[in-house]
Amino acid sequence: MKTEVFEPRIVAFCCHYCAYSSADLAGVMRIQYPPNVRIIRTPCTGRLETEYFMKALENGADGVLVAGCLEGGCHFVEGNLCAKRRVNYTRDLLEEIGIEKERLRMVNISAAMARPLADTITDMVETIRKLGPNPLRKSELRTPNSELRNPRPETTAKSENGKNLQAVGSHTAQ
Ligand code: FES
Repeated sequence: MKTEVFEPRIVAFCCHYCAYSSADLAGVMRIQYPPNVRIIRTPCTGRLETEYFMKALENGADGVLVAGCLEGGCHFVEGNLCAKRRVNYTRDLLEEIGIEKERLRMVNISAAMARPLADTITDMVETIRKLGPNPLRKSELRTPNSELRNPRPETTAKSENGKNLQAVGSHTAQ
């Protein structure tokens, strides 16, 4: 008999100037974090709309992480503050429709904060693991090897030799 194993899928929207670089740095420093995260590089978190978070959840993510520059450090002045407002707005929306708001989280980090980024990802994976699968896709069969819809292999958190983890920044498309 086949046993279902729940492995959370986390989509992380990472700002090019901070979180994306810190993910790269984590790889260089060989700081490990769970391979459950798919990193999507964004020019600034201010570019992200509520629709992006909801689409990620609709399309199979169990959680969404938004990682932007430190407050006061956004290269586009207030992009991260806009993102913070949108994340909070979306968290309220999620709660209204009966989905745990913990599935969406925002952090502010600098390019040098590889360890805090890894810790945040680890904590988020554990939080989502406790919450269980995203109700929007609960009916789908979850196996250890199941993938997000339209997976992008270049963004998976696996090294070239197949070992899990480490930063995936260098694997992400330009
Ligand atoms: Fe990093 Fe705006 S440039 S959040």
